[in-house]
Amino acid sequence: MDDDYLDRVRERLATGNLLDAAFDYLLPPVARSKSLVHWTPISVARAVAARLEAHGARSVLDAGSGAGKFCVVAGSVSPRLTFLGIEQRGGLVSAARDLAARLGVVNARFELGDALGRSWAPFDGFYFFNPFAENALASDDVFDAASGVAKRRFGTEARRLVRRLREARRGAVVVTYHGLGGAIPSTYELMAEDESGTGRLRTWVKQRDNEEDWVHLDHRDVARVAWGALEPGSRPDALRHPDSAGGYVALERSGADLELGGSSNRAPAGGFQGSFDDLAG
Ligand SMILES: C[S@@+](CC[C@H](N)C(=O)[O-])C[C@H]1O[C@@H](n2cnc3c(N)ncnc32)[C@H](O)[C@@H]1O
Repeated sequence: MDDDYLDRVRERLATGNLLDAAFDYLLPPVARSKSLVHWTPISVARAVAARLEAHGARSVLDAGSGAGKFCVVAGSVSPRLTFLGIEQRGGLVSAARDLAARLGVVNARFELGDALGRSWAPFDGFYFFNPFAENALASDDVFDAASGVAKRRFGTEARRLVRRLREARRGAVVVTYHGLGGAIPSTYELMAEDESGTGRLRTWVKQRDNEEDWVHLDHRDVARVAWGALEPGSRPDALRHPDSAGGYVALERSGADLELGGSSNRAPAGGFQGSFDDLAG
């Protein structure tokens, strides 16, 4: 790839006048083939960056940063913000670092690891593109099920996620795209919800310190469930809605409604093939 191509991508990123396919050309072929389904489109990344800035975020965590597309695009349009992407698949971390270096985006860094495995206190902005959904999906919905990375760990991760989001200061902002695939403490409030790209962007802000005994679930829809419903090993179809009398009723299941958005970001037929195993570290 020549320098001229990189210069043109940089220029067009700044104006927003860049096709996703042209940006994705900078990714290794396997990561490129997943872009339509798994990586944030440019227009959405720009919208997320604007929301994070508008709510005063400065230090942003992309939990599950994949090939780095979100952090690199958002970092290039919001130079005042810093982005840390944490990704569990080593090959994707390498691809993300390479992408940032080639485009000269210095405010986006990437680390290999479990995004839930470290403190979130240093961050005041969080971005999630449905990273935890794979834990609740049927194996053929998970892009590299054969690698053994994906496990059915919904209940455990939902609790760990809530504990991490508790660590953020009041005013912290969370933006989700295609749902979080997990739970958010009651101290956060949903400030805005709108259509973007192929899904919904939800903006949550931490408003209080005192938590109640329920959490928000941010999936295809938003619901409240009792903290106690997030038992280790629980599945989203075992979770329940509060009823008007203060008890809980089972969520109604219809078709794939409770697949945590698993099919909602799926590309049209033929969208992606192959395996992420090639990129797994
Ligand atoms: C839908 S992709 C989004 C990638 C990136 N945020 C973007 O929008 O371009 C979700 C990513 O989350 C990663 N992931 C899921 N659970 C994770 C965890 N606990 N720690 C780190 N990465 C995780 C997956 O490997 C996958 O690359």
